[in-house]
Amino acid sequence: MDRIDFLRKLAVGGSFLLAGPTFMASCSKDGDTTDPDPGNGNDITIDLTDSSFDDLDTVGGYVYYGSMIIFRTGNDSYRALSKKCTHQGCDVTYDHSSGDVPCPCHGSVYSTSGVVTNGPAMSNLTSYSVVKSGNTLTIK
Ligand code: FES
Repeated sequence: MDRIDFLRKLAVGGSFLLAGPTFMASCSKDGDTTDPDPGNGNDITIDLTDSSFDDLDTVGGYVYYGSMIIFRTGNDSYRALSKKCTHQGCDVTYDHSSGDVPCPCHGSVYSTSGVVTNGPAMSNLTSYSVVKSGNTLTIK
């Protein structure tokens, strides 16, 4: 290996080392603990006595939690939807006044069941199973 080859390899290796942390940071997002992943046993447990979830104390209440919107739909029933729009991945929000879940990017609208009511999205929001036991919600 001559001096030029050595410097060339050093530059390539250095670039990889600099890019490595960025690479790893974006990969670690897949392991975000707020993304239920029942296939991998990555269920989410929520303690309803935590004041962060006070908005779930009443039927019709909702909270944003990680990548989800969690609705209280009845006395003991809840629904959790992914916030990720199925069109191109923007975060949807709940519009309490209309009762819809619109996407701010291209106008898709979903119901609070996650069903597309207006495109361009073609697929419903991902919906997660929510089980209540005592003061604990488990989102699967
Ligand atoms: S990303 Fe939501 S409508 Fe396009």
